Amino acid sequence: MEHTVSAPEPTKVQVAVSDSAAIEWAVARRMRLVEVRQTTSGHLAVMEKFDDWDAPDGFPLIKDGRIDAGDVYLRYLQPGDADLVYECDTDALSRRWALTSPPTRQYAENMARRGYLDWRLSYKSALTIVQSSSNTPVGLIKVRKLVPPGVADVGYQVHERYRGLGYAVHALQMFCTWSHQAQLFHRFELGIKPGNTASVRVAEKAGFVFEGRRSARLVDVGGGYSDELHYAKVITAKCSASVLNNDTNSDVAPAFVSTH
Ligand SMILES: CC(C)(COP(=O)(O)OP(=O)(O)OC[C@H]1O[C@@H](n2cnc3c(N)ncnc32)[C@H](O)[C@@H]1OP(=O)(O)O)[C@@H](O)C(=O)NCCC(=O)NCCS
Repeated sequence: MEHTVSAPEPTKVQVAVSDSAAIEWAVARRMRLVEVRQTTSGHLAVMEKFDDWDAPDGFPLIKDGRIDAGDVYLRYLQPGDADLVYECDTDALSRRWALTSPPTRQYAENMARRGYLDWRLSYKSALTIVQSSSNTPVGLIKVRKLVPPGVADVGYQVHERYRGLGYAVHALQMFCTWSHQAQLFHRFELGIKPGNTASVRVAEKAGFVFEGRRSARLVDVGGGYSDELHYAKVITAKCSASVLNNDTNSDVAPAFVSTH
């Protein structure tokens, strides 16, 4: 009788940062993100298996990769969203209310390229808002896990060509509903600089409540500080996690570079 000896599974791999199948393969084998390397073959995520593995920092898989919100839907960021990321952060209105210096094109490309990786493995990430009728990416919902479990900091940007159509409100509302159904968050917080009327309207229309003014909490890019208008939305009703996708096809070995 013939015996075949199969090679041991690797404990450390490098996968392309935008290769969702490879990332899921590694996650299913309890590997965590160690670092992202820029190499001649592109940006590679180094993932390694640790004995003290705990669930990764990131966010759950989205059923069918899409959260529907009527005239828009949310999906994972893709490499092709680099222009959207760049333009949403560089127009005059965005710069007026920004907390950080304008991004470089390289930064926008990196963020779009590693969108899926960050969603699955990082404590802060973003989803793309897409116009349902045309499949055009029109904005971003940004999210960061705060320290108390179940509490999120959220942000939103809509490309200047698509403002005033209700997209930010619809995307934000649905993101909160989905996150609660996924048992990810029950409390959502956001901070707005005084004078950002459009953002205040978005928060209020999406069901956020004003909780107070926090002095000098937000940096102004040109120097100095702004107060923060602090808004929160709480959803505590019971629900089931039927919005999650549990089928990752992670048994299919992807193309990766094993580093053993
Ligand atoms: C804030 C922002 C995301 C709103 O996006 P949007 O898709 O245009 O928002 P909506 O179409 O859902 O509009 C929501 C409300 O804001 C109002 N609004 C939009 N632009 C406005 C403006 N410049 N001044 C006053 N109200 C405005 C809309 O009229 C609407 O209220 P209404 O239904 O009562 O008329 C968008 O203006 C933006 O990207 N701004 C720059 C980034 C930013 O400030 N992000 C928030 C940081 S806290």
